[in-house]
Amino acid sequence: MKILILLAHPRKGSFNHAIARTAAQVLRGNSHRVFFRDLYSEKFNPVLSAPEMDERCRLSARIQRYCREAAEADGIIIVHPNWWGQPPGVLKGWVDRVLRPGVAYRFEEGDGGEGVPKGLLKAGCVLIFNTSNTPPGREREVFGDPLDNLWKNCIFRFCGVKRIRRKVFGVIVTSSLRQRKAWLEQVRREVNRHFPAFKK
Ligand SMILES: Cc1cc2nc3c(=O)[nH]c(=O)nc-3n(C[C@H](O)[C@H](O)[C@H](O)COP(=O)(O)O)c2cc1C
Repeated sequence: MKILILLAHPRKGSFNHAIARTAAQVLRGNSHRVFFRDLYSEKFNPVLSAPEMDERCRLSARIQRYCREAAEADGIIIVHPNWWGQPPGVLKGWVDRVLRPGVAYRFEEGDGGEGVPKGLLKAGCVLIFNTSNTPPGREREVFGDPLDNLWKNCIFRFCGVKRIRRKVFGVIVTSSLRQRKAWLEQVRREVNRHFPAFKK
């Protein structure tokens, strides 16, 4: 299967990078084809321009490639830190520019955009790995865990994905090496569970 990994963290040595690398290793070990997109190192431009807002506009070759990968992916893995209850801007921009009408969703004829769209993504499963410095109880009770609603309801259910799983690792800032190794083991297990060895 084709699996798209999206990583959004500016520091190469971050735990987020370790998560994404681990996920890619497991996928390759299970004979999947991996599209690995490290959005910061690729200097992805997150700004959606006025012309690009038009569904029929002529997209750059680069954005066309990102769109093709998203449309063709049988699964998607997203890795990013919690920044103000949101993804880093570079990843928000990937959502804005790549999950376009005609690629990720479309409205039925006669629907001006106010109705419920038809999701177009082929991905059967999306896995989201987040890191955070807020204990889970406080994240839910004080902040309402906005990332959970964002990824599951606002984005991937909207685009037609049925299975969406999210795992949050934290508190990162006080974690030991042993704890982080155990978390990477959980990443291995989750990726293996949702994207097991591919039988040709
Ligand atoms: C701009 C910015 C905003 C952040 N906002 C939050 C936040 O709202 N909640 C939270 O728990 N942590 C927040 N953090 C902390 C990051 O989530 C934390 O540094 C990251 O998850 C650690 O992962 P890493 O070791 O891979 O860098 C923020 C960090 C930055 C730089």
